[in-house]
Amino acid sequence: MVDRCSRVVLVCLVSFFLLIGCTVEQQFLVSRQERLALLQLRSSLGLRAKEWPIKSDPCTAWAGIQCTNGRVTGINISGFKRTRKGSQNPQFSVDALQSFTFLSSFNTSNLALPGSIPEWFGLRLGLLQVLDLRSCSIAGAIPFTLGNLSSLAELYLSDNNLTGIVPTSLGQLFHLSVLDLSRNSITGLIPGTFSALGNLTLLDMSLNFLSGAIPQEIGTLSRLQFLNLSGNSLSSSIPAQLGDLSSLVDLDLSFNSLMGSIPPDLRGLKNLHKLIIGNNFLSGTLPGDLFPPLTQLQHVVLSHNAFTGDFPFVLWSMPQLRFLDASRNNFTGTLPNLSLTANASVAVFNISQNFFYGNLTSVIRRFNFVDVSGNYLQGRVPDYARGNMPLSRNCLQNVASQRSVSECVSFYAERGLLFDNFGLPNGAQPLPPKSDKKSRRRVIILASVLGAAGMVALLAIVYVLLIVCKRKTGATNQRAIGVGPVPANGSSPPGASVNFSSLGDAFTYKQILEATGEFSDVNLIKNGHSGDFFRGILEDANPIVIKKIDLRSSVKKEAYMLELDLFSKVSHPRLVPLLGHCLENENEKFLIYKYMPNGDLSSSLFKKTNADNDSLQSLDWITRLKIAIGAAEGLSYLHHECTPPFVHRDIRASSILLDDKFEVRLGSLSEVCVQEGDTHQNMITRLLRLPQTSDQGSSGMPNATCAYDVYCFGKVLLELVTGKLGISSSTDASAKEWLEATLPYISIYDKELVTNIVDPSLIIDEDLLEEVWAMAIVARSCLNPKPARRPLMRYILKALENPLKVVRDEHMSSERLRTTSSRGSWNAALFGSWRQSSSDVAVIPAVPSQRAERANSFKQLGTTGSQESGQNDEGNGHLSSTRRHSKEIYPEPLNVQDVVRDNED
Ligand SMILES: *[C@@H]1O[C@H](CO)[C@@H](O)[C@H](O)[C@H]1NC(C)=O
Ligand SMILES: *[C@@H]1O[C@H](CO)[C@@H](O)[C@H](O)[C@H]1NC(C)=O
Ligand SMILES: *[C@@H]1O[C@H](CO)[C@@H](O)[C@H](O)[C@H]1NC(C)=O
Ligand SMILES: *[C@@H]1O[C@H](CO)[C@@H](O)[C@H](O)[C@H]1NC(C)=O
Ligand SMILES: *[C@@H]1O[C@H](CO)[C@@H](O)[C@H](O)[C@H]1NC(C)=O
Ligand SMILES: *[C@@H]1O[C@H](CO)[C@@H](O)[C@H](O)[C@H]1NC(C)=O
Ligand SMILES: *[C@@H]1O[C@H](CO)[C@@H](O)[C@H](O)[C@H]1NC(C)=O
Ligand SMILES: *[C@@H]1O[C@H](CO)[C@@H](O)[C@H](O)[C@H]1NC(C)=O
Repeated sequence: MVDRCSRVVLVCLVSFFLLIGCTVEQQFLVSRQERLALLQLRSSLGLRAKEWPIKSDPCTAWAGIQCTNGRVTGINISGFKRTRKGSQNPQFSVDALQSFTFLSSFNTSNLALPGSIPEWFGLRLGLLQVLDLRSCSIAGAIPFTLGNLSSLAELYLSDNNLTGIVPTSLGQLFHLSVLDLSRNSITGLIPGTFSALGNLTLLDMSLNFLSGAIPQEIGTLSRLQFLNLSGNSLSSSIPAQLGDLSSLVDLDLSFNSLMGSIPPDLRGLKNLHKLIIGNNFLSGTLPGDLFPPLTQLQHVVLSHNAFTGDFPFVLWSMPQLRFLDASRNNFTGTLPNLSLTANASVAVFNISQNFFYGNLTSVIRRFNFVDVSGNYLQGRVPDYARGNMPLSRNCLQNVASQRSVSECVSFYAERGLLFDNFGLPNGAQPLPPKSDKKSRRRVIILASVLGAAGMVALLAIVYVLLIVCKRKTGATNQRAIGVGPVPANGSSPPGASVNFSSLGDAFTYKQILEATGEFSDVNLIKNGHSGDFFRGILEDANPIVIKKIDLRSSVKKEAYMLELDLFSKVSHPRLVPLLGHCLENENEKFLIYKYMPNGDLSSSLFKKTNADNDSLQSLDWITRLKIAIGAAEGLSYLHHECTPPFVHRDIRASSILLDDKFEVRLGSLSEVCVQEGDTHQNMITRLLRLPQTSDQGSSGMPNATCAYDVYCFGKVLLELVTGKLGISSSTDASAKEWLEATLPYISIYDKELVTNIVDPSLIIDEDLLEEVWAMAIVARSCLNPKPARRPLMRYILKALENPLKVVRDEHMSSERLRTTSSRGSWNAALFGSWRQSSSDVAVIPAVPSQRAERANSFKQLGTTGSQESGQNDEGNGHLSSTRRHSKEIYPEPLNVQDVVRDNED
């Protein structure tokens, strides 16, 4: 009994002292040897007294020292600062560590330890469980002996300069759960011995120079959650055994040289969140049934491979998917017609640079960001797809930077698919859609290939024809100003293939705001029908004019598209210079023009003199003539040097802008469109179409004829002659009345008559009066109510350049005519004289050369203007026959219509 009692007391006492002893031992370092070793380490690494104060007990007072039972078990000097001396010569001198027989954790991450890991690490630190040497500037190879650290659970060696191969001995570290060798220069193979690392959860060997195959043995690592082999030179295919990694959460095999297809076994990765296999040489199709089991997938990168075939439909609707990059592959197929509700806060879907076709569908609404650029999608862009979604290099309607017609046509044709040809009629021959029967499909493909080839041949012929015509025009047209060639690009729709390089610089919205003082009212020039004009000053102090276009107005939007189209196709010194654009904003676009110091003709014909507000100073005659010639040059370029011809449609004094030297720059270009009959953009139909002869075109677009421009220009000329302001921009009854009252004063027979209407502010002598008279005559011929009888712009230009020839030669011949004819009509007098001289071939050789030139310039007037041909308003038959006469004598400029008409005869 006593015995038993004393035994209990003894046990209690022993326990008590043990308890006391334990707490005492935990507080203080008991091993003298280890204390010495710590001091040695302190001095060899150059650690500071701040962290390791020399007089205090290491276990209690030193930072990063972990003790158990009075022995050092953990050393954490991660990120420590060194003494000045220590930092001058950092070394991997940790020999003192050999004294810590109980050390289980050593962490020196972010502390420079240049040198290599000593061999004895693996032999002397047998209890080490955690070794963290990340970012320590370690060099050399990983010692083979590390494989003897049989307790090691976590080994971090990333972000060093380690070289050599991965020792196979690491495969003996059965307790290892983390192995991070990333960001080194390790070479060689991934050891198959890793298969023994049954507890491994993280294996990161990314960014090394590993080569060879991914060992299939890795498939046995059933606890592996994170496998990153990205950024090596691994070749071969993805082993099917990877599909056994049922715990895997992240798989990154990107940026290697992996080949072959994706093994369907990967569907075993049921916990996978990230699948990153971009930038390899993987190919083949992605089986649709691969993905449905991977319900956890959030992040998939397949980019930069050569995957082919239909894009797996299921990827559009994976429940958790937040990020999919399938760009730069050979995926094909249509976008599914699903409207999924967005359940993703940020979802990114990148299918750029593939072979997707068909329409944009509502499926993209599921994603916050979709990149579909570089495919072959067609059709209209729905509103929800506008904005920041990259759409470039497709076959879409009404957006910029799309593929060429031929690229789209051949893509769709090769696949036997129906192409909408940018929503325009004709162009590509519509092909029947896919048929189930293979043989029928083959026939269709063959037919479409042949069709496309025929189309290409036809276009080539037309192109050659145009080039030939162009050459002839250039050779005979002395007025041609040295500007770049006019693209004969009639096959692309307005705005669809805008060439931004010809639209000047790209300005930022910020620059625009700064230049206009945030669109302050003082800078507003006017609210035009195509947009609001603002004055602006650039950073380099250059004045500019900015047009702000609100695309929500369909009128302005159309005007904007027309103008972009024009500027992307033509450039000429007589058109207002477009300095740049700002197309950043979705609904608001900006075009930036050069500032014209002299405003426009309507504002500078009369200027108030500074001295006296009531007296007006008007432009002198020489300047007026110069302006008329300049405007005629601009119009002549649009009408005759562009293929297809452009019609300005808004010629009036306020459209004629004047630079500092009163050189004309035509403005108001937002109405400019291709001449009636060319609106279908189809070269073939255009070539077969007869020229329009009435202001009201057959397709309903009013005034889209060159003759309409000529009429408007006639009013401008009259404004210059008479000084009657505003007549060119008015179509109301009083303007008409004024015209009717004024025109009778213009007569080829009577110079003096014109003095009744000449601007009284003009100071002119007898010689100049002849020029004024000539301009008035030209104006009157432009104002002929019958469009077909109005002269062509290029002849008007010639007449304005040589005004005296108009009146002197015409006058003499008409004098002659008047004496022999009783008709007396101005029209007949002016034009009849030419008709006689041109049709009377026998007389022509005797005509002096000056007269020949005059005759040439007025040939058009003559051939269409006589009263005898009056019943033939269209004038076509008559025109071509007389024209042929004149061509026999004087080579004349050809245009497309001439060629066609001649071919038709
Ligand atoms: C290692 O030491 C640093 C610096 O004293 C400290 O911030 C960090 O929490 C320590 N880490 C561990 C795992 O003890
Ligand atoms: C080593 O120390 C760093 C910095 O305190 C810490 O972030 C890291 O987790 C430590 N390493 C280990 C394996 O605990
Ligand atoms: C280290 O491991 C190797 C096997 O990889 C073994 O042969 C050797 O005896 C071990 N050395 C020590 C000191 O345990
Ligand atoms: C593997 O890890 C588990 C739990 O993390 C542990 O119980 C087991 O002992 C470890 N196995 C080895 C061989 O280390
Ligand atoms: C894989 O490693 C690379 C390089 O270290 C890194 O950029 C990438 O984010 C890692 N992948 C994953 C899924 O963490
Ligand atoms: C989509 O992928 C392409 C090509 O890989 C890349 O250039 C583009 O930036 C990506 N888009 C987004 C939104 O990341
Ligand atoms: C992918 O498309 C490109 C053309 O863009 C072609 O050169 C390549 O051969 C295609 N690759 C495969 C695997 O079909
Ligand atoms: C998608 O569905 C809408 C409405 O059901 C339909 O109007 C449209 O034609 C379909 N588009 C395609 C490409 O199937």
